[in-house]
Amino acid sequence: MIKKIKTLSSFLCVLIFTSSYVFAEPKQAAIASAHPLATQAGIDILRQGGNAFDAAAAITASLAVVEPYSSGLGGGAFWLVHRSSDKKQTMIDGREKAPMRSTHDMYLDKAGNVVKGLSLNGPMAAGIPGVPAGIEHLVKNYGRLSLKQVLAPAIKQAQEGFAVTERYQKLMGYRKEVIKQYPDAAQIFLNKYDVPAIGALIVQKDLANTLITLANNGRKGFYQGPVAKQLVSSVRENGGIWEPGDLEKYQIIEREPIVVNYNGIKVTSASPPSSGGIVMGQALNILEQFNLEKLDSITRKHIVIEAMRRSYRDRAAYLGDPDFIDIPVDRLLDKNYAGGLALTINSERATPSSELSNIATIDQIGTDTTHFSVVDPEGNRVSATLSINLPFGSGFVAKGTGVLLNNEMDDFSVKPLTANAYGLVGDHANAIAPGKRPLSSMTPTFLETDDRIAVLGTPGGSRIISMVLLGVLDFAEGNAPKSWVSLPRYHHQYLPDQVQYEQGGLSDLEQTALKDKGHVLKEKNRRYGNMQAIMIWKKKGLFFAASDPRGEGSAEVFYYP
Ligand code: GLY
Repeated sequence: MIKKIKTLSSFLCVLIFTSSYVFAEPKQAAIASAHPLATQAGIDILRQGGNAFDAAAAITASLAVVEPYSSGLGGGAFWLVHRSSDKKQTMIDGREKAPMRSTHDMYLDKAGNVVKGLSLNGPMAAGIPGVPAGIEHLVKNYGRLSLKQVLAPAIKQAQEGFAVTERYQKLMGYRKEVIKQYPDAAQIFLNKYDVPAIGALIVQKDLANTLITLANNGRKGFYQGPVAKQLVSSVRENGGIWEPGDLEKYQIIEREPIVVNYNGIKVTSASPPSSGGIVMGQALNILEQFNLEKLDSITRKHIVIEAMRRSYRDRAAYLGDPDFIDIPVDRLLDKNYAGGLALTINSERATPSSELSNIATIDQIGTDTTHFSVVDPEGNRVSATLSINLPFGSGFVAKGTGVLLNNEMDDFSVKPLTANAYGLVGDHANAIAPGKRPLSSMTPTFLETDDRIAVLGTPGGSRIISMVLLGVLDFAEGNAPKSWVSLPRYHHQYLPDQVQYEQGGLSDLEQTALKDKGHVLKEKNRRYGNMQAIMIWKKKGLFFAASDPRGEGSAEVFYYP
């Protein structure tokens, strides 16, 4: 009998060995992005043998084509990267830079007042783009395929066109009047100066050619040669200040991400020139002083709001481009400092922001930007947030290039202590200077515990940080991506001194109770954010992915040989 079992087990061993030899283990990967065509571009690249970094480059290029209102070759991005072979974690900083002819007061009139629209519309609003250099950097330093291979899906999408959706129409609605002023943009994105119908195809032949030049020549194809010449001359002809040297000298920088520990979760996120990692890390450090899970929903939300208020206050005071200013990162993320701030929170009453400081501000006018998350079978992962700032950026396309330029210059503090388009105030730390990167709120993030890994992020202007913060708190409670991306959202950014919340973000009871505590509430007229998230449950080897129900994105967990 024993002999029989032995024989059987060796037979099974041979069978298992043989079958695993013949049929390779299927590989599991996940992608969540704001557009199904971009998710598909990433899937195609993984199936061709690319890794998560190749897929990230392909998704970046694809989003530049099919989500022109959110990101593009004319914009910037932060790619947070984890390489499994050596556990390297880095942030690839492809943020825009101020042109060298920028000046501190370039958006002010002679009386020192902000010239309305100058930092938002047309080529004067555009920083020097970082996305094309970032795509090359990802592929060259981390990828496995060629630039030609990873750019092929985006080139095809630009040549064949993508269909207008409700989201396209809505975002175009905000920016139509600006785009109408720029014939090269209007010709591509409008239909006879009107918002195109749902299903109409947006074909971008010039953008396809620019992508082909990038594919053939690498970053030189964009930052030097005929494309660069065309970008600069078109910007100059329309009142902008770019010079050839601005493009030629643009550099990607790899920066050490911000890492904080929140109740045993390792939180890795964007470092300056994004404020995301520091502001979120500081808020988490404050919240660690409270036992949030034990609190009723009203007290809990009050405490979270007060933590947001305090960390956004420090954003306004201290944060900017680290290549230009000294940021007290260690102090801002010090647990004792957070402990001190936590002590100033009264669980019964809202702290007026004027008690922290008194600064005038304006309201927000709108937000855009985009995010994607990707994990490959080897455990490489990328969390990337990309932007051209407001929907359709500056509204200006450089003639013959198809490149829609950003209006990221508005992310600078164009006048100290005066709010930008997101209602955010800043001071000297984020003042304009030639070659400087404007302070961002983009918060691409990784979370790690012994048994779970998460990759998440979202667009949403100043509200990006608070949305990711709420996602982290939901992860901490043991929930999965579908819950993080759907959570009702609320936000406080120090100034304006109000709790903003999306439709359904606060229940009637919570609204009444928060008002009783002294909060001023402001309901936004729509739901906001477009979170794209992935989670790996290590013990079970299971992947989960989810795309925000507020958007039109797609999240896929898939297997391939
Ligand atoms: N333009 C949005 C941000 O970078 O925060």
